[in-house]
Amino acid sequence: MNRGITVNLGNLVLSLSDAIDLASPKLARHQQRTAFIAWEMAKVSKISEDMLEKLFIAALLHDIGALSVEEKVSLYNFEVKAVDLHCVRGKMLLEKIPWLKGAAKIVRFHHREWQAWNKPINNSLTLQSQILFLADYLERLVDRNKYILHQNQKLVNQITSLSETLINPQVVEIFLSIAKREEFWLDLVSPRLYSILLHEGPYKRVGINLQGITLIAELFRNIIDFRSRFTSTHSSGVAACAKLLAEIFGLTEMEIQLMEVAGNLHDLGKLAIPNSILEKPDKLTKEEFDVMRSHTYYTYSVLNTIGNLKQIAEWAAYHHEKLDGSGYPFHCSADELNTGARIMMVADIFTALAEDRPYRAGKSRKEINAIMTKLANKRLLDLKIVELLFENYDEILSYVKHEQNIAREFYEKQFTV
Ligand SMILES: [Fe+2]
Ligand SMILES: [Fe+2]
Ligand SMILES: [Fe+2]
Repeated sequence: MNRGITVNLGNLVLSLSDAIDLASPKLARHQQRTAFIAWEMAKVSKISEDMLEKLFIAALLHDIGALSVEEKVSLYNFEVKAVDLHCVRGKMLLEKIPWLKGAAKIVRFHHREWQAWNKPINNSLTLQSQILFLADYLERLVDRNKYILHQNQKLVNQITSLSETLINPQVVEIFLSIAKREEFWLDLVSPRLYSILLHEGPYKRVGINLQGITLIAELFRNIIDFRSRFTSTHSSGVAACAKLLAEIFGLTEMEIQLMEVAGNLHDLGKLAIPNSILEKPDKLTKEEFDVMRSHTYYTYSVLNTIGNLKQIAEWAAYHHEKLDGSGYPFHCSADELNTGARIMMVADIFTALAEDRPYRAGKSRKEINAIMTKLANKRLLDLKIVELLFENYDEILSYVKHEQNIAREFYEKQFTV
């Protein structure tokens, strides 16, 4: 029987919003701080509970459409001219989940200046978008090297000067009503902001089941993979392969579903890796590889803090471990690597070998078999699972390709400029 699991929605979205800002220490908690400002403003603007929730989730994920580390940093520094691109992409990614359609619309307009709106401020989308505009703008103005109460008056003046042009005057008024509280500024820069938002924020009692988690995992899979043409279908392939291997191995229905989620999120920590390393056509230098090695660490730390997802966190994050303890970054021993983890290790290597890369075409069955059997014989991979893969090779390959084609179609239609 599938008993399922439930995760707190606030916890899930807050942790994943952290992942968006892994791109650079400069961006740490940008999504959360923006969400905090928007939420505080929304509370005094007396919008409905439902609108407040949509705005909060939109703010937590507002830059989800900025795919590369470089794009995120430039946006943060007010250096991007074509700001609309990440707004359009963010909307397209979010609206694939039915209950995020409202948030998707707000994300679409989070950089639209007041003077460009042709709908009045009492229209709910206009108001929500303008609150998010101000929140995002303000968060980027904060000097992170300076004590907050030594700069808040200047920040207030800067925001006030945008009234009528970039920001609707009523929205500026809403901000001014909260800006007089020192507590607001201290919470904004508090290292405990995550807990504040978790315990006080709109989603403190909302649960999300495995079906919902699966959809969120697909959303994040897209933002992980779509950063580069060469990885644009990688996690889709790994998830498909891991799912089918789990089924053939005889894992339970729930484990199979967890495996699919873990496959989709296995490279979540790559959001912390700059594109210059991710897309490098030649071999990485030692220094670059040291950076690359951190990605599974981040996959683990983001997923594990959500709570109730330990199994997914381990299956996702152990994919570069080896049975002899020589893998990274945990150096797990064979007995710490259960069947699910072993399946993921095989699925990741198989998918990577079968894919085209900047420097080579995808490998044939014979080549893949030779490489993977060698790894299994050296006790790096689980021999039984490698054998299972080749006993069912055609079925697995065609399922992997099928799932990758779906992802490729979405990527090529919407994400190639
Ligand atoms: Fe943005
Ligand atoms: Fe932003
Ligand atoms: Fe990886």
